Amino acid sequence: MERDIALKMVKDQLTEHRYQHTLGVMDTAIILAKQYGGDEKKAELAAIFHDYAKFRPKPEMKAIIVAEGYPEDLLQFNAELWHAPVGAYLVEKEAGITDKEILDAIRYHTSGRPGMTLLEKIIYLADYIEPGRHFPGVDEVREMAKEDLDTALIKSVQNTILFLMKKNQPVYPDTFHTYNDLVKKRQED
Ligand SMILES: [Fe+2]
Ligand SMILES: [Fe+2]
Repeated sequence: MERDIALKMVKDQLTEHRYQHTLGVMDTAIILAKQYGGDEKKAELAAIFHDYAKFRPKPEMKAIIVAEGYPEDLLQFNAELWHAPVGAYLVEKEAGITDKEILDAIRYHTSGRPGMTLLEKIIYLADYIEPGRHFPGVDEVREMAKEDLDTALIKSVQNTILFLMKKNQPVYPDTFHTYNDLVKKRQED
């Protein structure tokens, strides 16, 4: 799918603020794909569609999670997690994108998962460091991303966990599993 058509599709689904964020994720994902030998076209499309389901009504998201047999523990955690797997589902249905790598990059962009692919890492990180993001620690991760993808990714997952814990919020288990997987692989190197 051409970039312009994809952007038009998501613009209709998002607020202006979220659309600007999407453009930032797209630019950042392409830079990271170039730098780390990822597929630039897939990075572009996955980035454009990553937040496609962000503003779908919660009952619709819930119904899709149940009907599609997605992990129902998602429903016990922050609804912020839902738009990722629901997005993968809707992007396939409504935009006709069937590439599994792209759909998985959308599916895991919020929680991460153990054994993340290069494309999944690129989208997760691009979502975290795109230029429109402003929060403590983001500049440090931006600098890390210039040097090493996994180092930056570990830091971003760590920051996310710490942020939630400081606010006494629950942490979705896959986010811990993602962190453990990345750190263990690093120790094995
Ligand atoms: Fe998202
Ligand atoms: Fe996002």
